[in-house]
Amino acid sequence: MRSNSCGELRRKHIALNVKLCGWIDRCRDHGGVIFIDLRDNSGTVQVTVDPDQGAELFATAENLRTESVIQVCGQVRSRPEEALNEKIETGEIEVCANELKVLNQVRGNLPFAISIHDEEPIKEELRLRHRYLDLRRERMNRNLRLRHKTIRTARNFLENEGFIEVETPVLTRSTPEGARDYLVPSRVCGGEWFALPQSPQLFKQLLMVGGLERYYQIARCFRDEDLRSDRQPEFTQLDIEMSFMDQEQILDLNERLIVEIWKSIKGIELKTPFPRMTWHKAMDRYGTDRPDTRYGMELTNVSEIIKDIGFKVFSGAVANGGSVKCITVKGGNAAISNVRIKPGGDIFSEAQKAGAGGLAFIRVREKGEIDTIGAIKENLNNSQKEALLKQTNAEPGDLILFGAGKTTTVNKTLDRIRQFLAQDLELIPTHQENTQWNFLWIVDFPMFEFKEEEKRLEALHHPFCAPNKKDLGEDKNVWHEKLPTARAQAYDLILNGLELGGGSLRIHDSQLQKQVLATIGLPLKEATEQFGFLMEALDMGAPPHGGLAFGLDRMVMLLAGEESIRDTIAFPKTQQARCLMTEAPAEVSESQLEDLHVSSTWIDPE
Ligand code: AMO
Repeated sequence: MRSNSCGELRRKHIALNVKLCGWIDRCRDHGGVIFIDLRDNSGTVQVTVDPDQGAELFATAENLRTESVIQVCGQVRSRPEEALNEKIETGEIEVCANELKVLNQVRGNLPFAISIHDEEPIKEELRLRHRYLDLRRERMNRNLRLRHKTIRTARNFLENEGFIEVETPVLTRSTPEGARDYLVPSRVCGGEWFALPQSPQLFKQLLMVGGLERYYQIARCFRDEDLRSDRQPEFTQLDIEMSFMDQEQILDLNERLIVEIWKSIKGIELKTPFPRMTWHKAMDRYGTDRPDTRYGMELTNVSEIIKDIGFKVFSGAVANGGSVKCITVKGGNAAISNVRIKPGGDIFSEAQKAGAGGLAFIRVREKGEIDTIGAIKENLNNSQKEALLKQTNAEPGDLILFGAGKTTTVNKTLDRIRQFLAQDLELIPTHQENTQWNFLWIVDFPMFEFKEEEKRLEALHHPFCAPNKKDLGEDKNVWHEKLPTARAQAYDLILNGLELGGGSLRIHDSQLQKQVLATIGLPLKEATEQFGFLMEALDMGAPPHGGLAFGLDRMVMLLAGEESIRDTIAFPKTQQARCLMTEAPAEVSESQLEDLHVSSTWIDPE
């Protein structure tokens, strides 16, 4: 259908007769000559239609509509001096058409413009409703190519390291990764359900028991959870598992993989080893286990200094087992008004969203004087004041914001405010070229966290992570006592405050696995019902193994400089987990439900 692609034509092609196919990017009638910008995957080229090429040809050209698909035969010629266009690679030539065929005519109005020349922002709803048009736009086309290149680089790297790709089932049993499952009713086994995998976790472990030693997969995962800009119900992991490797070796291999990807996609040579921080330190210094280390404003724990002061909000918090922490905003006195910190203000409202009741603050003035609203100032003696200013490194002009109460709420509040202020005060470079790539391994996670509502322990990652041997000791009889406070051999890779991936060494001893499941409140009978196959396999020659999974969509989002993973996925879902194009999910017929032995309890609230 075509002899050349649009974007490849240059001076050297002058006088060549070519046949091109593509979309009409723009069409202009310049007093008798029609100019068509013809676009295909490789770029655009200018096609000119002169009236002296024949009335029929000219009439066809006059009726062309943007985004119609056409085929053009013509001769490449040099552009006149005044029409040279340095901005495009084909800007020195044009194609003089002698034949023109419409392969598909656009009918009706296009919902939005596709051309790169049109920079009108388009509502995301429209983009998703007509995703095929959106994909035709340069931005989405580029993102999908970048995604492909990322996957190709990862595949090449892993295969050179001896990994093989293995597909694992999509119709399976529920795996406990912490989100709700998507369920599929079985027609053949009435009353029973498959779950779509939240990750290939157990299968990849069983592949290790199966002796494959090094596995990877570009794996589709499904999680029915609240959606955000970095979460989709259906997303892709770059999933990796390997045998006979310790944590150091696994981290090293993954760092080399990341270095390779950043080199191939961004042309950047990342420095290794990536910094590491223990989970406890991260919570202490940033209030979160995925800190953005591109800016300061770290949290300072001032509980010791203020635990005895008369200001009850502070001393009471410490007395009740909580803490008082703060962040120091450099130059915050000038940048942030009281109105923003007091009830009704935007910073106050951020604190509230994180569960805080209030937001105390101190303004540091010249000569170490301080200003506050409320009773902090009167209740601080000189030595407490000095200790506070010293510990927070606060100088005249700085603003100190406090969180007081339960430590988890304090951490959540200050983490949220820290991130909010970093945006607000423009502490993060926004231009792609200036992006700082702050990778950080968070290590030494606790095995479990306490779930207040259910009054029980839950695995922080998942219940297959191996505990740190030092915390368990050699005596198997006391493992059950030591497990609840043990650290896991688990690690997350954080990039600029976003969790890029996570993994761990796994338990390969069935006794220990049973004890971990018991610790999260799963009685042996239930554990055997759910995970009997795993326990059995662990007793049949299971090698020590471990691995990691990267969120591929998130990785591509960061590489592409996008703010939402929806812009890195060809056909994503909305925040309501809907596909606006196909209108899935949708109702099905009664007979389909009957076949599946399912009846709906849904009542339309309207
Ligand atoms: P985890 O649950 O941490 O680990 O998931 C690994 C990575 O997947 C990405 N991710 C998501 N991306 C988009 N939308 C979502 N809803 C979503 N949920 C997670 C994140 C995350 O770091 N089986 C373990 C891995 C292992 O232990 O090897 C697992 O799934 O980037």
